[in-house]
Amino acid sequence: MVDLPSDYTHIHQFARDLIAFMHEPRSVQITGGIHVNDAFIYDAWSKLPSEWTAWWESLSNPQDAQKDLINSLRKEPEARQHDLQGRPDSLSQWLNCIRNLSLDREQFVLPEGIPHVEVPEILASRMVTKKLAEVKAGARYINHVCKTNNITRVVDIGSGQGYLSLTLAAACNLKVLAIDGSAKQIAGSKAAAEQAGLTEGDQITHLTRFVTGTDELATEVSTWAEGEKCLLTGLHACGSLSEHMIRLSTTTPCISHIAVVGCCYNHITPFSASNPTGFPISTFMRSHNLNLSTSALITGCQAPTNWIHNPNSIFGRKHFYRAVLEKLLFDKNLVADGARPVWGIRNGDLRSFHTYTSRALSSLNLIIGKDISEQEVTGYEKAYAGRSAETAILWTLSVLLCRVVESVIVLDRVFYLEEQGMEEVGVLPVFEYRESPRNLMVVGKKGAEL
Ligand SMILES: C[S@@+](CC[C@H](N)C(=O)[O-])C[C@H]1O[C@@H](n2cnc3c(N)ncnc32)[C@H](O)[C@@H]1O
Repeated sequence: MVDLPSDYTHIHQFARDLIAFMHEPRSVQITGGIHVNDAFIYDAWSKLPSEWTAWWESLSNPQDAQKDLINSLRKEPEARQHDLQGRPDSLSQWLNCIRNLSLDREQFVLPEGIPHVEVPEILASRMVTKKLAEVKAGARYINHVCKTNNITRVVDIGSGQGYLSLTLAAACNLKVLAIDGSAKQIAGSKAAAEQAGLTEGDQITHLTRFVTGTDELATEVSTWAEGEKCLLTGLHACGSLSEHMIRLSTTTPCISHIAVVGCCYNHITPFSASNPTGFPISTFMRSHNLNLSTSALITGCQAPTNWIHNPNSIFGRKHFYRAVLEKLLFDKNLVADGARPVWGIRNGDLRSFHTYTSRALSSLNLIIGKDISEQEVTGYEKAYAGRSAETAILWTLSVLLCRVVESVIVLDRVFYLEEQGMEEVGVLPVFEYRESPRNLMVVGKKGAEL
Protein backbone atom coordinates (compact mmCIF):
# COMPACT_ATOMS: atom_id res chain seq x y z
CA MET A 1 0.00 0.00 0.00
CA VAL A 2 1.37 3.37 -0.98
CA ASP A 3 0.30 6.29 1.18
CA LEU A 4 -0.57 8.82 -1.52
CA PRO A 5 -0.51 12.60 -1.04
CA SER A 6 -3.89 13.86 0.15
CA ASP A 7 -4.97 15.13 -3.30
CA TYR A 8 -4.94 11.58 -4.71
CA THR A 9 -6.93 8.39 -4.37
CA HIS A 10 -5.57 6.53 -7.43
CA ILE A 11 -1.90 5.65 -7.69
CA HIS A 12 -1.85 5.64 -11.49
CA GLN A 13 -3.36 9.13 -11.65
CA PHE A 14 -0.74 10.28 -9.16
CA ALA A 15 1.97 8.69 -11.32
CA ARG A 16 0.61 10.30 -14.50
CA ASP A 17 0.65 13.74 -12.84
CA LEU A 18 4.18 13.14 -11.56
CA ILE A 19 5.42 12.19 -15.01
CA ALA A 20 3.66 15.17 -16.61
CA PHE A 21 5.25 17.48 -14.03
CA MET A 22 8.74 16.07 -14.60
CA HIS A 23 8.29 16.45 -18.36
CA GLU A 24 7.19 20.12 -18.13
CA PRO A 25 9.76 22.35 -19.85
CA ARG A 26 10.39 24.22 -16.57
CA SER A 27 11.17 21.01 -14.65
CA VAL A 28 13.37 19.80 -17.50
CA GLN A 29 15.25 23.11 -17.53
CA ILE A 30 15.89 23.31 -13.82
CA THR A 31 16.81 19.63 -13.40
CA GLY A 32 19.58 19.77 -15.94
CA GLY A 33 18.15 21.02 -19.24
CA ILE A 34 20.37 23.97 -18.46
CA HIS A 35 22.82 22.90 -15.79
CA VAL A 36 23.53 25.53 -13.12
CA ASN A 37 27.18 25.43 -14.23
CA ASP A 38 26.03 26.63 -17.66
CA ALA A 39 23.62 29.25 -16.31
CA PHE A 40 25.52 32.22 -17.79
CA ILE A 41 26.23 30.50 -21.09
CA TYR A 42 22.54 29.90 -21.81
CA ASP A 43 21.15 32.71 -19.64
CA ALA A 44 19.07 30.32 -17.54
CA TRP A 45 17.80 33.16 -15.31
CA SER A 46 15.98 34.86 -18.17
CA LYS A 47 14.20 31.61 -19.01
CA LEU A 48 12.43 31.53 -15.65
CA PRO A 49 9.08 33.36 -15.33
CA SER A 50 9.86 37.08 -15.17
CA GLU A 51 7.57 37.70 -12.17
CA TRP A 52 9.55 35.13 -10.17
CA THR A 53 12.95 36.59 -11.05
CA ALA A 54 11.73 40.16 -10.53
CA TRP A 55 10.50 39.24 -7.05
CA TRP A 56 13.72 37.46 -6.09
CA GLU A 57 15.72 40.45 -7.38
CA SER A 58 13.62 42.79 -5.23
CA LEU A 59 14.54 41.01 -1.99
CA SER A 60 17.13 42.77 0.12
CA ASN A 61 18.80 39.48 1.05
CA PRO A 62 18.87 36.73 -1.59
CA GLN A 63 19.41 34.13 1.13
CA ASP A 64 15.79 34.81 2.15
CA ALA A 65 14.70 33.52 -1.25
CA GLN A 66 16.65 30.31 -0.73
CA LYS A 67 15.23 29.82 2.78
CA ASP A 68 11.71 30.46 1.46
CA LEU A 69 12.09 27.92 -1.34
CA ILE A 70 13.40 25.23 0.99
CA ASN A 71 10.75 25.98 3.62
CA SER A 72 8.10 25.55 0.92
CA LEU A 73 8.89 21.80 0.85
CA ARG A 74 7.76 21.34 4.42
CA LYS A 75 4.34 19.78 4.72
CA GLU A 76 3.58 20.70 8.34
CA PRO A 77 0.77 23.34 8.33
CA GLU A 78 2.82 25.61 10.65
CA ALA A 79 5.54 25.80 7.99
CA ARG A 80 3.21 27.99 5.88
CA GLN A 81 3.45 30.68 8.56
CA HIS A 82 7.08 31.14 7.50
CA ASP A 83 6.32 31.60 3.81
CA LEU A 84 7.84 34.85 2.59
CA GLN A 85 5.32 37.66 2.05
CA GLY A 86 4.79 38.97 -1.47
CA ARG A 87 5.68 35.74 -3.25
CA PRO A 88 4.02 35.72 -6.73
CA ASP A 89 0.95 33.47 -6.85
CA SER A 90 2.30 31.52 -9.81
CA LEU A 91 5.43 30.62 -7.82
CA SER A 92 3.36 29.60 -4.79
CA GLN A 93 1.20 27.39 -7.02
CA TRP A 94 4.28 25.72 -8.48
CA LEU A 95 5.71 25.12 -5.00
CA ASN A 96 2.35 23.69 -3.86
CA CYS A 97 2.49 21.39 -6.83
CA ILE A 98 5.91 20.07 -5.78
CA ARG A 99 4.63 19.49 -2.26
CA ASN A 100 1.48 17.75 -3.45
CA LEU A 101 3.42 15.48 -5.80
CA SER A 102 5.83 14.21 -3.15
CA LEU A 103 5.28 11.02 -1.20
CA ASP A 104 5.13 11.52 2.53
CA ARG A 105 8.41 11.07 4.40
CA GLU A 106 7.15 11.04 7.97
CA GLN A 107 8.58 7.94 9.63
CA PHE A 108 6.31 4.91 9.69
CA VAL A 109 6.29 3.69 13.27
CA LEU A 110 5.39 0.09 14.04
CA PRO A 111 2.87 -0.47 16.86
CA GLU A 112 4.51 -0.74 20.29
CA GLY A 113 3.47 -4.39 20.63
CA ILE A 114 5.94 -5.37 17.91
CA PRO A 115 9.25 -6.26 19.56
CA HIS A 116 12.22 -3.91 19.24
CA VAL A 117 15.54 -5.38 18.19
CA GLU A 118 18.36 -5.07 20.71
CA VAL A 119 21.54 -4.59 18.69
CA PRO A 120 24.37 -6.41 20.54
CA GLU A 121 26.83 -3.91 22.03
CA ILE A 122 29.76 -5.38 20.11
CA LEU A 123 27.95 -4.55 16.85
CA ALA A 124 26.36 -1.29 18.00
CA SER A 125 29.77 0.09 19.02
CA ARG A 126 30.92 -0.11 15.37
CA MET A 127 28.02 2.01 14.08
CA VAL A 128 27.60 5.78 13.98
CA THR A 129 24.34 7.07 15.49
CA LYS A 130 22.64 7.37 12.09
CA LYS A 131 23.53 3.81 11.08
CA LEU A 132 22.46 2.40 14.43
CA ALA A 133 19.05 4.07 14.11
CA GLU A 134 18.67 2.70 10.55
CA VAL A 135 19.65 -0.81 11.61
CA LYS A 136 17.30 -0.77 14.59
CA ALA A 137 14.34 0.40 12.51
CA GLY A 138 15.16 -1.83 9.51
CA ALA A 139 15.84 -4.94 11.61
CA ARG A 140 12.67 -4.44 13.64
CA TYR A 141 10.51 -4.32 10.52
CA ILE A 142 12.30 -7.22 8.81
CA ASN A 143 12.19 -9.36 11.94
CA HIS A 144 8.48 -8.65 12.30
CA VAL A 145 7.76 -9.69 8.69
CA CYS A 146 9.88 -12.83 9.09
CA LYS A 147 8.30 -13.89 12.38
CA THR A 148 4.74 -13.33 11.13
CA ASN A 149 5.37 -15.24 7.89
CA ASN A 150 7.47 -18.16 9.18
CA ILE A 151 10.55 -16.92 7.36
CA THR A 152 13.84 -18.05 8.87
CA ARG A 153 16.27 -16.72 6.27
CA VAL A 154 17.26 -13.29 5.01
CA VAL A 155 19.36 -12.37 2.00
CA ASP A 156 21.00 -8.96 2.53
CA ILE A 157 22.41 -7.56 -0.70
CA GLY A 158 24.84 -4.64 -0.64
CA SER A 159 25.45 -5.73 2.95
CA GLY A 160 28.57 -3.56 3.36
CA GLN A 161 30.13 -3.93 6.80
CA GLY A 162 27.29 -6.24 7.77
CA TYR A 163 25.59 -3.93 10.23
CA LEU A 164 22.11 -5.17 9.35
CA SER A 165 23.07 -8.77 8.43
CA LEU A 166 24.91 -9.40 11.67
CA THR A 167 22.19 -7.80 13.77
CA LEU A 168 19.54 -10.00 12.16
CA ALA A 169 21.71 -13.08 12.70
CA ALA A 170 22.74 -12.24 16.26
CA ALA A 171 19.57 -10.68 17.66
CA CYS A 172 16.70 -12.15 15.63
CA ASN A 173 17.71 -15.78 15.25
CA LEU A 174 17.60 -15.51 11.45
CA LYS A 175 20.05 -17.18 9.06
CA VAL A 176 21.55 -14.51 6.85
CA LEU A 177 23.30 -14.52 3.49
CA ALA A 178 25.31 -11.29 3.26
CA ILE A 179 26.26 -10.36 -0.31
CA ASP A 180 28.42 -7.44 -1.37
CA GLY A 181 30.40 -6.61 -4.50
CA SER A 182 33.34 -5.33 -2.50
CA ALA A 183 35.77 -7.90 -1.08
CA LYS A 184 36.91 -5.26 1.43
CA GLN A 185 33.39 -4.77 2.78
CA ILE A 186 32.89 -8.52 3.05
CA ALA A 187 36.21 -8.88 4.89
CA GLY A 188 35.11 -6.18 7.38
CA SER A 189 31.78 -7.90 7.87
CA LYS A 190 33.42 -11.30 8.37
CA ALA A 191 35.76 -9.88 11.00
CA ALA A 192 32.82 -8.33 12.87
CA ALA A 193 30.87 -11.59 12.65
CA GLU A 194 33.75 -13.41 14.27
CA GLN A 195 33.95 -10.80 17.04
CA ALA A 196 30.23 -11.19 17.62
CA GLY A 197 30.65 -14.96 17.90
CA LEU A 198 28.57 -15.80 14.83
CA THR A 199 29.30 -19.02 12.97
CA GLU A 200 30.21 -18.57 9.32
CA GLY A 201 28.26 -20.92 7.08
CA ASP A 202 25.51 -21.34 9.67
CA GLN A 203 24.12 -18.18 11.28
CA ILE A 204 25.85 -15.99 8.73
CA THR A 205 27.21 -16.73 5.26
CA HIS A 206 29.24 -14.16 3.32
CA LEU A 207 29.45 -13.97 -0.45
CA THR A 208 31.44 -11.53 -2.56
CA ARG A 209 29.39 -10.95 -5.70
CA PHE A 210 28.89 -7.86 -7.79
CA VAL A 211 25.20 -8.09 -8.58
CA THR A 212 24.21 -7.28 -12.14
CA GLY A 213 20.89 -9.05 -12.40
CA THR A 214 22.14 -12.34 -13.85
CA ASP A 215 20.54 -15.73 -13.20
CA GLU A 216 23.65 -17.22 -11.54
CA LEU A 217 22.99 -15.35 -8.33
CA ALA A 218 19.42 -16.69 -8.21
CA THR A 219 20.88 -20.20 -8.31
CA GLU A 220 23.39 -19.43 -5.55
CA VAL A 221 20.69 -17.93 -3.34
CA SER A 222 18.42 -20.94 -3.92
CA THR A 223 21.21 -23.39 -3.06
CA TRP A 224 21.94 -21.52 0.17
CA ALA A 225 18.21 -21.36 1.07
CA GLU A 226 17.95 -25.18 1.14
CA GLY A 227 14.29 -25.03 0.17
CA GLU A 228 13.30 -22.52 2.87
CA LYS A 229 11.52 -19.20 2.31
CA CYS A 230 13.66 -16.04 2.37
CA LEU A 231 13.18 -12.31 2.68
CA LEU A 232 15.41 -10.25 0.40
CA THR A 233 16.61 -6.95 1.79
CA GLY A 234 19.11 -4.17 1.23
CA LEU A 235 19.60 -0.95 3.15
CA HIS A 236 20.73 1.79 0.80
CA ALA A 237 21.23 -0.44 -2.18
CA CYS A 238 22.88 2.04 -4.54
CA GLY A 239 21.64 3.01 -7.98
CA SER A 240 20.60 0.10 -10.16
CA LEU A 241 21.40 -2.44 -7.44
CA SER A 242 17.91 -1.90 -5.99
CA GLU A 243 16.43 -2.62 -9.42
CA HIS A 244 18.48 -5.82 -9.81
CA MET A 245 17.24 -6.92 -6.39
CA ILE A 246 13.65 -6.17 -7.29
CA ARG A 247 14.00 -8.35 -10.39
CA LEU A 248 15.77 -11.07 -8.42
CA SER A 249 12.92 -11.16 -5.92
CA THR A 250 10.42 -11.88 -8.66
CA THR A 251 12.48 -14.57 -10.43
CA THR A 252 13.91 -16.51 -7.48
CA PRO A 253 11.28 -18.93 -6.16
CA CYS A 254 12.63 -19.13 -2.58
CA ILE A 255 12.33 -15.35 -2.10
CA SER A 256 8.86 -14.70 -0.74
CA HIS A 257 9.27 -11.11 0.49
CA ILE A 258 11.28 -8.03 -0.41
CA ALA A 259 12.14 -4.93 1.63
CA VAL A 260 14.65 -2.63 -0.05
CA VAL A 261 15.73 0.96 0.51
CA GLY A 262 17.52 2.63 -2.40
CA CYS A 263 20.02 5.47 -2.59
CA CYS A 264 22.55 7.10 -4.97
CA TYR A 265 20.05 7.47 -7.79
CA ASN A 266 22.79 9.04 -9.90
CA HIS A 267 24.15 5.50 -10.34
CA ILE A 268 20.96 4.29 -11.99
CA THR A 269 21.58 3.36 -15.59
CA PRO A 270 18.89 4.44 -18.03
CA PHE A 271 16.86 2.11 -20.22
CA SER A 272 18.11 1.91 -23.82
CA ALA A 273 18.37 -0.61 -26.64
CA SER A 274 21.77 -1.67 -25.28
CA ASN A 275 20.57 -1.62 -21.65
CA PRO A 276 17.12 -3.23 -21.73
CA THR A 277 17.04 -3.62 -17.93
CA GLY A 278 17.66 0.07 -17.30
CA PHE A 279 15.46 2.73 -15.66
CA PRO A 280 12.51 2.94 -15.72
CA ILE A 281 11.90 -0.75 -15.12
CA SER A 282 8.10 -0.85 -15.04
CA THR A 283 5.92 -1.22 -18.09
CA PHE A 284 3.74 1.62 -16.79
CA MET A 285 6.57 4.15 -16.62
CA ARG A 286 8.05 2.97 -19.91
CA SER A 287 4.70 3.19 -21.68
CA HIS A 288 4.43 6.78 -20.42
CA ASN A 289 7.93 7.49 -21.78
CA LEU A 290 9.29 8.54 -18.40
CA ASN A 291 12.60 10.19 -19.08
CA LEU A 292 14.78 11.64 -16.33
CA SER A 293 18.20 13.10 -17.11
CA THR A 294 21.24 12.17 -15.03
CA SER A 295 21.06 15.61 -13.40
CA ALA A 296 17.44 14.96 -12.46
CA LEU A 297 18.44 11.63 -10.90
CA ILE A 298 21.18 13.41 -8.94
CA THR A 299 18.49 15.78 -7.67
CA GLY A 300 16.75 12.75 -6.14
CA CYS A 301 19.75 12.35 -3.79
CA GLN A 302 19.33 15.80 -2.22
CA ALA A 303 17.59 16.72 1.03
CA PRO A 304 17.58 20.53 1.20
CA THR A 305 15.32 20.63 4.26
CA ASN A 306 18.20 18.98 6.12
CA TRP A 307 20.69 21.66 5.08
CA ILE A 308 22.03 23.53 8.05
CA HIS A 309 21.56 27.25 7.56
CA ASN A 310 24.80 29.12 8.10
CA PRO A 311 24.32 32.90 7.96
CA ASN A 312 28.10 33.37 7.66
CA SER A 313 28.56 31.01 4.72
CA ILE A 314 29.92 32.40 1.48
CA PHE A 315 26.45 32.14 0.03
CA GLY A 316 26.37 30.28 -3.25
CA ARG A 317 29.96 31.16 -4.17
CA LYS A 318 30.84 27.69 -5.43
CA HIS A 319 28.07 27.58 -8.04
CA PHE A 320 28.62 31.21 -8.94
CA TYR A 321 32.35 30.87 -9.58
CA ARG A 322 31.78 27.69 -11.55
CA ALA A 323 29.17 29.32 -13.77
CA VAL A 324 31.42 32.34 -14.47
CA LEU A 325 34.33 30.01 -15.19
CA GLU A 326 32.27 27.92 -17.62
CA LYS A 327 31.15 31.09 -19.41
CA LEU A 328 34.77 32.21 -19.71
CA LEU A 329 35.89 28.81 -21.07
CA PHE A 330 33.00 28.81 -23.51
CA ASP A 331 33.49 32.37 -24.79
CA LYS A 332 37.25 32.01 -25.16
CA ASN A 333 36.95 28.57 -26.70
CA LEU A 334 39.65 27.41 -24.31
CA VAL A 335 38.69 23.75 -24.19
CA ALA A 336 38.08 21.35 -27.03
CA ASP A 337 34.99 19.13 -27.33
CA GLY A 338 33.25 20.52 -24.27
CA ALA A 339 35.90 19.17 -21.85
CA ARG A 340 35.23 20.30 -18.29
CA PRO A 341 37.72 21.13 -15.56
CA VAL A 342 37.74 18.39 -12.95
CA TRP A 343 39.69 18.85 -9.75
CA GLY A 344 39.34 18.21 -6.06
CA ILE A 345 37.99 21.56 -4.91
CA ARG A 346 39.32 22.83 -1.57
CA ASN A 347 37.80 25.54 0.62
CA GLY A 348 40.81 27.76 -0.11
CA ASP A 349 39.90 27.72 -3.82
CA LEU A 350 36.86 29.87 -3.02
CA ARG A 351 38.98 32.68 -1.53
CA SER A 352 38.77 34.61 -4.79
CA PHE A 353 37.67 34.09 -8.38
CA HIS A 354 41.30 34.32 -9.44
CA THR A 355 42.38 31.49 -7.11
CA TYR A 356 39.40 29.38 -8.17
CA THR A 357 40.04 29.90 -11.87
CA SER A 358 43.74 29.28 -11.53
CA ARG A 359 43.12 25.89 -9.85
CA ALA A 360 40.41 24.93 -12.36
CA LEU A 361 42.54 25.89 -15.37
CA SER A 362 45.54 23.98 -14.05
CA SER A 363 43.43 20.80 -14.23
CA LEU A 364 43.20 21.50 -17.98
CA ASN A 365 46.91 22.34 -18.22
CA LEU A 366 46.07 25.99 -18.80
CA ILE A 367 47.79 28.90 -17.07
CA ILE A 368 46.59 32.42 -16.30
CA GLY A 369 49.06 34.83 -17.88
CA LYS A 370 49.83 32.42 -20.72
CA ASP A 371 46.61 30.89 -22.08
CA ILE A 372 44.39 33.68 -20.81
CA SER A 373 45.35 37.11 -19.51
CA GLU A 374 44.96 38.37 -15.95
CA GLN A 375 42.79 41.22 -17.31
CA GLU A 376 40.39 38.80 -18.98
CA VAL A 377 39.91 36.85 -15.74
CA THR A 378 39.34 40.08 -13.79
CA GLY A 379 37.00 41.29 -16.54
CA TYR A 380 34.74 38.23 -16.17
CA GLU A 381 34.66 38.61 -12.41
CA LYS A 382 33.57 42.25 -12.80
CA ALA A 383 31.05 41.53 -15.55
CA TYR A 384 29.18 39.00 -13.39
CA ALA A 385 29.61 40.73 -10.03
CA GLY A 386 26.31 40.88 -8.18
CA ARG A 387 24.80 37.89 -9.98
CA SER A 388 25.67 35.18 -7.44
CA ALA A 389 22.04 35.12 -6.24
CA GLU A 390 21.00 33.86 -9.71
CA THR A 391 23.13 30.73 -9.54
CA ALA A 392 22.27 30.17 -5.86
CA ILE A 393 18.54 30.31 -6.62
CA LEU A 394 18.86 28.21 -9.78
CA TRP A 395 20.72 25.57 -7.76
CA THR A 396 18.09 25.66 -5.01
CA LEU A 397 15.30 25.31 -7.59
CA SER A 398 17.00 22.24 -9.05
CA VAL A 399 17.29 20.45 -5.71
CA LEU A 400 13.74 21.44 -4.80
CA LEU A 401 12.48 18.64 -7.01
CA CYS A 402 14.32 16.02 -4.94
CA ARG A 403 11.22 14.45 -3.42
CA VAL A 404 9.28 14.48 -6.68
CA VAL A 405 12.15 12.69 -8.42
CA GLU A 406 12.46 10.15 -5.62
CA SER A 407 8.70 9.58 -5.69
CA VAL A 408 8.86 8.73 -9.42
CA ILE A 409 11.76 6.32 -8.90
CA VAL A 410 10.04 4.57 -6.02
CA LEU A 411 6.71 4.32 -7.89
CA ASP A 412 8.51 2.75 -10.83
CA ARG A 413 9.76 0.01 -8.48
CA VAL A 414 6.29 -0.44 -6.97
CA PHE A 415 4.70 -0.79 -10.40
CA TYR A 416 7.30 -3.31 -11.51
CA LEU A 417 6.62 -5.54 -8.50
CA GLU A 418 2.86 -5.26 -9.03
CA GLU A 419 3.19 -6.00 -12.74
CA GLN A 420 5.08 -9.17 -11.81
CA GLY A 421 2.20 -10.27 -9.61
CA MET A 422 3.62 -9.33 -6.18
CA GLU A 423 1.06 -8.52 -3.49
CA GLU A 424 0.85 -5.98 -0.69
CA VAL A 425 3.39 -3.87 -2.53
CA GLY A 426 4.02 -0.66 -0.65
CA VAL A 427 6.35 2.11 0.35
CA LEU A 428 7.28 2.62 4.00
CA PRO A 429 9.26 5.65 5.21
CA VAL A 430 11.19 3.39 7.51
CA PHE A 431 13.75 5.84 8.91
CA GLU A 432 13.52 9.28 10.46
CA TYR A 433 13.84 11.62 7.44
CA ARG A 434 15.85 14.32 9.24
CA GLU A 435 18.48 11.71 10.07
CA SER A 436 18.28 9.48 6.98
CA PRO A 437 16.64 11.22 4.03
CA ARG A 438 16.83 8.10 1.84
CA ASN A 439 14.14 6.51 3.96
CA LEU A 440 11.66 4.96 1.52
CA MET A 441 11.54 1.18 1.78
CA VAL A 442 9.81 -0.64 -1.07
CA VAL A 443 8.13 -3.79 0.20
CA GLY A 444 6.15 -6.63 -1.32
CA LYS A 445 5.31 -10.30 -1.00
CA LYS A 446 4.61 -13.09 -3.41
CA GLY A 447 1.10 -14.34 -3.73
CA ALA A 448 0.27 -18.04 -3.39
CA GLU A 449 0.55 -18.80 -7.09
CA LEU A 450 3.93 -17.13 -7.72
C1 LIG B 1 25.52 2.50 0.66
S1 LIG B 1 26.32 1.01 1.03
C2 LIG B 1 25.19 0.29 2.17
C3 LIG B 1 25.81 -0.79 2.99
C4 LIG B 1 24.89 -1.45 4.02
N1 LIG B 1 23.69 -1.99 3.43
C5 LIG B 1 24.55 -0.49 5.12
O1 LIG B 1 23.40 -0.05 5.21
O2 LIG B 1 25.43 -0.16 5.90
C6 LIG B 1 26.07 0.09 -0.43
C7 LIG B 1 26.83 -1.22 -0.49
O3 LIG B 1 26.42 -1.87 -1.69
C8 LIG B 1 27.55 -2.44 -2.32
N2 LIG B 1 27.21 -2.51 -3.75
C9 LIG B 1 26.95 -1.48 -4.60
N3 LIG B 1 26.61 -1.93 -5.80
C10 LIG B 1 26.68 -3.28 -5.74
C11 LIG B 1 26.41 -4.33 -6.65
N4 LIG B 1 26.00 -4.06 -7.89
N5 LIG B 1 26.56 -5.60 -6.23
C12 LIG B 1 26.92 -5.88 -4.96
N6 LIG B 1 27.17 -4.92 -4.04
C13 LIG B 1 27.05 -3.65 -4.41
C14 LIG B 1 28.70 -1.53 -1.98
O4 LIG B 1 29.95 -2.21 -2.04
C15 LIG B 1 28.34 -1.09 -0.56
O5 LIG B 1 28.91 -1.93 0.40
